[in-house]
Amino acid sequence: MEKLNLVSGMRSTGKLHLGHYMGVITNWVKLQEEYNCFFFVADWHALTTKYDKTQNLKQDKLDVVLDWLACGINPEKSTIYFQSKVLQIAELHILLSMITPNNWVERDPTLKDMVKILKSKTEDTSENMPQMSYGLLGYPVLMSADIMAVNGAVVPVGVDQLAHLEITRDIARRFNNIYNTEIFNEPKPRLTEVPLLVGVDGQKMGKSFQNDIKISDDENTTSKKIMQCITDRSRARKDDPGHPDKCEVAFKYYQAFSDGDEIEQTKCECTLGKRGCADCKRRLGNIINEKFAPIRAKRQEYQKDVSKVYDIINEGSKKAAIEAEKTMFKVREAVNIG
Ligand code: TRP
Ligand code: SF4
Repeated sequence: MEKLNLVSGMRSTGKLHLGHYMGVITNWVKLQEEYNCFFFVADWHALTTKYDKTQNLKQDKLDVVLDWLACGINPEKSTIYFQSKVLQIAELHILLSMITPNNWVERDPTLKDMVKILKSKTEDTSENMPQMSYGLLGYPVLMSADIMAVNGAVVPVGVDQLAHLEITRDIARRFNNIYNTEIFNEPKPRLTEVPLLVGVDGQKMGKSFQNDIKISDDENTTSKKIMQCITDRSRARKDDPGHPDKCEVAFKYYQAFSDGDEIEQTKCECTLGKRGCADCKRRLGNIINEKFAPIRAKRQEYQKDVSKVYDIINEGSKKAAIEAEKTMFKVREAVNIG
């Protein structure tokens, strides 16, 4: 049986952290076997909120792909590309924007949240500070174009993206109805089930909170950050009995990054007061460093030969454009535009 097309994208936020690794990338690596995968850097989407901060955009885009490649996203199996290199996506976005009722996007809860966060971050309250740009309002429409351009059947996303995807399904159905065609299927979400990894301070892990550990951090930096992890706050001395279930960060990382025996041993020694937290975190740092050593080495190899990485991206962008052009040929026919 022919493999189904799977599409997913990440905004170009720069170097990825261990939360991305556990939550998204390991999942993508597995999905490569089952589906015909299209993985892209959503650089246009990045502009919906950071249109005025593009100084690092080029490097950020590259960093995302370097992390993917290092973690095992395989260009022989998957199509890796930049959204902005597939112009058919922009063309489809325009056509979809014509058939999308305003209130569909205006009531998108994820979009509302984005605007709230944006407002809370900006100090500029002057009148010319746009709270919601035309481009940002179209976020879910652009996302629909991403998916529909390459005929995506399956879209792995986190829960926060489900509202967008619901709009995609509505838009696909509406397009088929209006133009009396069956060009588009209704793409299905595939929920990423891995619980989100917390940052070293116990809050949600994120670049802007400065509580993240990057995939590409060196061993020293990683060890230092791990030493900042919150543990069992009720534990005063190292021979007090500890509570792994109340250990807010360190033990969670053990569960995420070490094997069953290690987890059991840690639980046991902690509970009996036989392992101090500093010791426990030193050990954890080593475990994480060991796990990411081959990934980091691979990243450095690619980093040495960035032109090879751009070759991969250009090749992928061409492949995605061919797929999108097939779609657009049918779409233009259906709309009678050319
Ligand atoms: N909005 C997604 C996010 O922020 C990124 C994205 C853009 C995406 N286009 C997509 C994800 C298409 C899946 C499919 O995570
Ligand atoms: Fe957490 Fe380890 Fe300290 Fe126990 S010993 S509280 S598991 S850091």
